[in-house]
Order: sequence, then C-alpha cells, then structure tokens
Amino acid sequence: RVGFVHHAEAVWNQREPYGPAGFKGVFISYYATLCAAFAAIGGMVFGYDQGVVSVVLVMPQFLARFTRVSETAPGAGFYKGLMTAMIELGAFLGAFNQGWIADKYSRKYSMLIAVVIFTIGSIVQTAAMDYAMLTVGRLVGGIGIGMLSMVAPLYIGEISPPEIRGSLLVLEEFCIVFGIVVAYWITYGTRYMSGEWAWRLPFLLQMIPSTVLGLGILFLPFSPRWLASKGRDSEALQSLAKLRQLPATDQRVEQEWFDIRAEVAFHRQTNAMRHPTLQSESKLNSVKLELVSWMDCFRRGCWRRTHVGIGLMFFQQFVGINALIYYSPTLFETMGLNYSMQLIMSGVLNVTQLVGVSTSLWTIDRFGRRPLLLWGSFFMTVSHLIIAIFVGKYSKNWSAHRGPGWASAALLLFYMLSFGATWGPVPWAMPSEIFPSSLRAKGVALSTCSNWFNNFIIGLITPPLVQNTGFGAYTFFAVFCLLSFAWTFFFVPETRGRTLEQMDHVFKDISSEEEEARRQTIEAEIIASHHRSMISGP
Ligand code: GLC
Repeated sequence: RVGFVHHAEAVWNQREPYGPAGFKGVFISYYATLCAAFAAIGGMVFGYDQGVVSVVLVMPQFLARFTRVSETAPGAGFYKGLMTAMIELGAFLGAFNQGWIADKYSRKYSMLIAVVIFTIGSIVQTAAMDYAMLTVGRLVGGIGIGMLSMVAPLYIGEISPPEIRGSLLVLEEFCIVFGIVVAYWITYGTRYMSGEWAWRLPFLLQMIPSTVLGLGILFLPFSPRWLASKGRDSEALQSLAKLRQLPATDQRVEQEWFDIRAEVAFHRQTNAMRHPTLQSESKLNSVKLELVSWMDCFRRGCWRRTHVGIGLMFFQQFVGINALIYYSPTLFETMGLNYSMQLIMSGVLNVTQLVGVSTSLWTIDRFGRRPLLLWGSFFMTVSHLIIAIFVGKYSKNWSAHRGPGWASAALLLFYMLSFGATWGPVPWAMPSEIFPSSLRAKGVALSTCSNWFNNFIIGLITPPLVQNTGFGAYTFFAVFCLLSFAWTFFFVPETRGRTLEQMDHVFKDISSEEEEARRQTIEAEIIASHHRSMISGP
C-alpha cells in the first residue's frame, strides 16, 4: 500500500497548484470565492436567528404579548427553553434530511428549498399572534437553517480549489458569527421602539439575507462533484473549468477531473460489488452512488471519518461556546459586573469572536487544521481553569476583589478569540472535506446533526450548571477542552492542501491490496481512454 500512496502523492505533487494558499490564492480564484461567499450567506441567516432570540426574550414589548414566557408566569422557564430549543430541534431535523435532498436534487437546489422553508418560518414568526404560532414559526425556520448549515459547507468544499479550500470553508463560520453580531446590535437598537415592531422587525429583517441568497442561488454553478456522481460528465467538466477559470484542457483541471472521475467510478464499482443483482457489466454504469445506506457511514472505509466528523462537532459544543453565546450576561454577572456592563461586554464578546475567525481565513491553509485545533484546546483550557480559580475564590465578595473580576472577564474575551480562531471554523470545514463522494452528503449531515444535538444539550444544562455549581461550570468546560486536545492529538489527521479524492489515503481507508490495485487500475484506465480520445479526435 505504501507504494500506491506514494504513487498517488507523487502525481499530485508534480501538478502545478492553482495558486498559493492564503489571501492571494483567494483573489486569484475569485469566481470560486464569490460562489463560496454566496453559499455562506446561509451561515449568516443561522447566526442571526440564533442571536436574535436572546435579546428579544427580555424585551417588555415581547413579553406583553407572550405572557407565558414572562418571569412571573408559572412554568415560564420551560416555555422559554422550549421556544429557544425549537430552532435546534428544527435544525436537527433539517440537517438530517438535507443528506438525501442534496444528493437527489443537487446541492444547489437543496439550498433553494431550504431558503423557501426558512422564509415561511420567518413570516410565521414575524406575524405571530400567540405563543403556539411563534413556536411553530421557530421550528419551521429552524428546519431551513439546519438544511443550510449542512449544505453550504458541503457545496463550498466541493467547488473550492484545494489550496484555498480551508479559507473558503471558514467563510461559513465567519458568516455565522457576523450574523450573531448583526442580530445583537439590531435588537439592541429596536429595543427602544415602542410597540410590537420592537420584536417583529428583527424577525422580519432576517428575510433580507435569505432573499439575497435565494436569488443568488439561481446563478450559482452546480457542484462538479455532484454532477459527476450523477454521471453528467460533460456538464461536470464544464462546471469545474468555469470554477477554476481555466480551459477544460488545462493540465491542472484535467488532473483534478481524472481524480474526481476515478473516485466516482471506484465507489460505484464498490457499491455494485455489494449489491450482487447489479453486478452484470451492462448495469454497472447505471449503479447509483447513493445506493450506499446511512449504515455505510459506520462501516469499514468510512467509520473513522464519521467518528472525526461527529467528534469535532461534539467537542465544538462541549468546550462551552454556546454557554457564552446564550448566557453571557449571566456569566458576566457571576464575575461581579453590573447590568449595563454585562450587556456591553456581551456585545464586545461577539465582536472579539469575529476578530478571531478572521485570522483563521489566513491560518487554516497555512498552518493546517490540526495545529489550529490543538492550540485552541490549549488556550481555552487555560482560560477556563484560571476563571474557575478566580470565581471559586473571590465570587463571595467581588467588590473587595475588582482585579480578579476584571481579569476573569478579560479571560472570557481571550477564550472567545481562541475559539473563533480555531474550534469555531475548523469543525465546520473538516466534515465536508473528509468523506468519499458517495457518502459525503450523509456524512456531513451526521456531523451537522451532532452539532445541533450537542448544541441543544448545552443550552439545556448550562443554566442549572452555573446556578448550582458556580465555578464548577468553568471546571466542567475546562475538562472537555482538555479532552478535546487529547482526542484531536490521537484521531484528527491533517487535510490541508489535499484534494477531496485523496482522503482515502489521509484516513488510510483503502485497506486491502486488492482495493488499492482496483482504484489504481480505474484511474489509469480513465487517463488512458482520455489520451486515446485525444489521438482519435472527438
Ligand atoms: C459555531 C457553533 C455554533 C456557535 C457559533 C458561535 O458555529 O457551531 O453553535 O453558536 O460557533 O460562534
């Protein structure tokens, strides 16, 4: 197998890159960048909707209509939780189903379906007359958000030149955080409006980015990898060449195209071998890639990647990010800050995260995914631990210990910066890189579901954790930060600069000699038949 891997790597290394990593490469491949940026607007919708609810929930204008969630109403905590959790529940369902929708109707049109569903949800929320209507609106909106959160990275991963794929995938997280920031400051402003528009307007405004996305989608090219998986080869090659802004005969485009075709053919053959009725030669070309089932994600050849995808999202949530996003004023309160300071610091916290994410646009393809994750885990562990010590020691009497109180607040900012630069973007980026084409949509769907499920759990456990244990909450998250370090160290491989088709090697997942030989033969045959057709003419 070593021989095979070396052969594949050697071919790859001889190839001239499309451009350098980093900003320069992003500008050179401006068309792919533009398409990726459009798809990432889906992330903005997600962040906005997540951010909007925390401020709306404490507006008197909102509570006047939805009396069920006002502090004094019986069971208010439950109804508040339910309303917040609806988006996560919806998103979970949306992300899960987007797996087959994106395979069947294309990445492109599945985004359009998501936008339509999201828009319906937004209209219902904006027009909500009672609690039930609002909750249903959040559920429907959540479904659209979950679908977008899954398909945008999937699409971006499939259209990007390998050298800048990381940077383009970071756009998703960048837009999520940007959406959170925008929502925060919009609701900060509309709070002062009298009457119901104070909360209806923020719900209405979320339709602006989603409408822009909906219209833009119509102009996006289909993912060449999706087209190839459907056997629409000539369209696929055209789309690839367009995305690379190079003629289809360019040596680099050709090389990438051979890789894509070889991978599709290899997995198609593998499927056919598993389904004996389809084995006859005549039927081989009609074997669908999606014949693979969800269970195949957990079988040999894929389970390592499924583990990495689900694990990345699990730790992204359990390092405690959303404890800060959802409950930051409460956390600042446990550090002795007064009410107006709590609100301002929460706004600053989000902006800090945006600064962190911006750095990863550059670092992810320069230094790689692994170093980012490891450094992130380290810095987050340290911040949580020191905060735990300060809160544990001084929280009985903050007024006598202003220094440690402010130091803790500063450490929260440092935590945010670290998360933004590392564990924020990487877990959104990696799942869409690692799965083989036949299982990519399903694998990304499973990882995204893991994100929403764990997000839901964190939302649920944080308030009682902070209330009952005080500094224990920080210790709890510190433990998971430390575990994330160890887990990354042992299980997460580096994917920087590799094509999606090389992930079998990265994960050492083509395990038998015979499979390696089969794959190599397929690629050789594709290249040979290409040369034959060049000689004999079209
Ligand atoms: C990541 C998380 C999301 C969180 C956000 C904060 O995208 O998946 O849950 O709210 O980061 O920036």
